[in-house]
Amino acid sequence: MTDRFLGEACPVELQDAGERLSVDELRARQLAGLQATVRAAYENVPHYRAALDGVGFAPDDLKSLEDLSRLPFTTKHDLRENYPFGMFAVPRTEVVRVHASSGTTGRPTVVGYTRADIDNWADLIARSIRAAGGRAGDVCHVAYGYGLFTGGLGAHYGAERLGCTVVPVSGGMTERQVDLIRDFGAQIIMVTPSYFLSIMDEMVARGIDPRETSLRVGIFGAEPWTEQMRTEVESRTGMHAVDIYGLSEVMGPGVAQECVETKDGLHIWEDHFYPEIIDPVTGEVLPDGSEGELVFTTLTKEAFPVLRYRTRDLTRLLPGTARPGMRRMEKITGRTDDLMIIRGVNVFPTQIEELILTIEGLTPHYLCTLTRPNRLDELTVQVEAAPGLTDHTPAANALTNLIKNRIGISASVEILQPHALERSLGKAKRINDRRHL
Ligand code: DLL
Repeated sequence: MTDRFLGEACPVELQDAGERLSVDELRARQLAGLQATVRAAYENVPHYRAALDGVGFAPDDLKSLEDLSRLPFTTKHDLRENYPFGMFAVPRTEVVRVHASSGTTGRPTVVGYTRADIDNWADLIARSIRAAGGRAGDVCHVAYGYGLFTGGLGAHYGAERLGCTVVPVSGGMTERQVDLIRDFGAQIIMVTPSYFLSIMDEMVARGIDPRETSLRVGIFGAEPWTEQMRTEVESRTGMHAVDIYGLSEVMGPGVAQECVETKDGLHIWEDHFYPEIIDPVTGEVLPDGSEGELVFTTLTKEAFPVLRYRTRDLTRLLPGTARPGMRRMEKITGRTDDLMIIRGVNVFPTQIEELILTIEGLTPHYLCTLTRPNRLDELTVQVEAAPGLTDHTPAANALTNLIKNRIGISASVEILQPHALERSLGKAKRINDRRHL
């Protein structure tokens, strides 16, 4: 754990009014936001009208936050069915921007924003960067992809809003990323943790000590990453590594942010997004503290409100700490889609990552390949050795044993040469499922 290496809190006078709400004020605002959102969705989006009519729920029935649990869920399937603009709650002419997720299967999911939505989003990213330890006047290097992905432009507008000097690099051209960090003296970097590893490797390859750069804070998200990865990055760079969470359907990055003074999970910006945790199988709402699937209802969005959107992300809700009014979510363990069930044992790639990073000489560049040679699932973990590791056998044995003892499955481990695995410029691919080939 790295909770001893903590940053300086954002002073209260730099926080915005939403961050400082008391719990009572927050709940009142949430109820008003929820009522307005449900009404707007019902009146303007045929899908929501049909879904609410289907369960006999009228917008006036929403009297308390508890009533939310009576509404039906919204899923990615619903969004796809309404491709491209069917879920918009305002006329298309009021939508100033769209983003879309590529979607590995079928149609992409398209989301839209009014001018006020873009404005709120910028405010929330500005709040997130401040909570992460960034300040007006910092140089902020944005290496999240620009384009239909929400990462780049979302981060960009918020960093500008905070008063940073934004370097809009996007992903790719790793050598140039290193040049620009060095030449422009960025204090903040916003990037996926896996791509940051590539940037760090490039620094080392060029003889630049990552501890000697100007970087102070990395704001890492868009994919799961572990405490062990935090330790690895912080110890190699001397900077703070904090987590940012979000998804296009709910807004983009900036739905929740980890505070640098606590590094204990992500505060959900509850003045804009109402979280629930449900049992992913039964759909039952679970009490705070239980692990389950995260569900969001937006409270302020105009163009693309979502009611009880099932994220498929697994986590727990915890009480607020650095922002006492807002609940935290624990670091995401994985998505329900990333769950590997190997001979009956549930495993997420993050569990493998945790073990890899306890072994000297191994790096967090890894890939889990699933095969089914004799109608039984088999897992092969490929992981790159650190430069200079000549004898791979002890590390391979150590990882095999750890996986066996800690997770309870037999996996084949292959230690690869440095740079053997394909690098991603954005979200890393951790699972290669070859079972149905
Ligand atoms: O990944 C938005 C984003 C951009 C978040 C930049 C943070 C930074 P999507 O492409 O729609 O949006 O993917 C959303 O990515 O449901 C999670 O499964 C995963 N994800 C996002 N942030 C985190 C995180 C952006 N901090 C999906 N930890 C989500 C774990 C994350 N998973």
